[in-house]
Amino acid sequence: MQGTAAKRGGFVRVWWGYVGLGLMLTAGIVIAAVLTATPTVPQPVAFNHRKHTEELGLNCEFCHVYVTKRAHAGLPNAQTCTMCHQATQGTSAEAARVTTLLAEGDPLTFNKLFRLESHVFYTHRRHVGIAELECATCHGAIAATERPPARPLVRIDMDFCMDCHREQGQTLDCNACHR
Ligand code: HEC
Ligand code: HEC
Ligand code: HEC
Ligand code: HEC
Ligand code: HEC
Repeated sequence: MQGTAAKRGGFVRVWWGYVGLGLMLTAGIVIAAVLTATPTVPQPVAFNHRKHTEELGLNCEFCHVYVTKRAHAGLPNAQTCTMCHQATQGTSAEAARVTTLLAEGDPLTFNKLFRLESHVFYTHRRHVGIAELECATCHGAIAATERPPARPLVRIDMDFCMDCHREQGQTLDCNACHR
């Protein structure tokens, strides 16, 4: 009698083992599906932040001209790149391609990477212009990237905003952010 109970116990343990394995596989598949479902953001050229900021010493504001003054920081366009890339810069194939694209009149339209739903109000003027927060607080190490990230480096959701507002005694009023 007792032997049968022990066998049953063993069987049950193995069975639960399979259930556990199944759950782990399912979780893995779901995570993989979510990751691939996050849209990747395409860009016209392989821009290199590290080269232009750390090596060439350009300020963020040189290209993101409204970052201290307006809600949106702004992305550069062909005009900004033309200042230097009208003539070939450096020796890389990508830099040569930039000069060719500019000569062809390509507008070099860059696409937004960090994007909030339209029901949320966020402004760089208050956070950068007034509170003088570091870009990396919200954008991670974008200044050190050597090609455009396919996805935002930091996930900016409601908790991300609320955690800092709570810590720094800033507004938690729904209507301040949702207008
Ligand atoms: C407190 C968080 C925070 C800080 C600090 C911050 N940003 Fe942003 N940034 C955001 C959010 C949120 C968005 C997306 C805004 C949207 O979609 O409405 C964004 C978007 C951007 C964009 C895309 C264009 C735009 O304005 O929507 C650029 C470029 C940008 N930020 C550059 C910068 C730079 C450069 C700095 C530092 C000088 C900086 N940001 C500091 C939160 C921040
Ligand atoms: C102030 C001058 C200047 C401006 C403005 C500028 N660049 Fe550059 N860029 C350079 C120089 C110099 C190099 C070559 C650096 C090297 O190879 O060491 C370069 C290199 C590049 C490269 C090659 C990067 C690599 O990994 O080899 C790309 C792509 C590029 N720039 C794109 C752009 C785009 C797009 C813009 C406009 C948003 C722009 N640049 C604005 C000076 C500039
Ligand atoms: C020479 C121009 C140039 C300079 C200088 C520059 N950027 Fe950018 N930035 C770009 C371009 C082009 C893109 C879009 C392609 C990419 O993501 O690499 C971009 C994208 C970004 C984005 C993503 C914006 C979005 O669409 O959500 C952030 C954040 C950002 N830059 C931050 C910075 C910070 C911080 C600095 C200063 C340390 C800086 N940038 C300096 C040209 C520049
Ligand atoms: C400091 C700014 C801020 C405050 C204050 C705030 N929210 Fe949000 N809320 C956000 C951001 C950012 C998102 C995410 C938007 C996105 O995904 O692009 C969000 C998203 C949401 C969503 C959509 C579901 C979700 O979680 O993405 C709801 C609903 C919401 N907020 C309700 C509220 C309510 C109710 C309050 C007041 C108790 C509130 N929010 C206060 C910034 C804020
Ligand atoms: C790292 C800290 C930090 C983060 C992250 C942050 N904020 Fe703020 N926020 C501040 C500070 C500091 C101020 C006050 C700035 C000033 O003095 O004008 C502020 C002010 C604001 C205001 C103005 C409130 C008013 O009284 O009118 C809004 C709206 C706002 N934040 C929205 C957001 C949203 C939306 C996010 C997320 C996308 C966010 N904040 C993320 C620190 C932060």
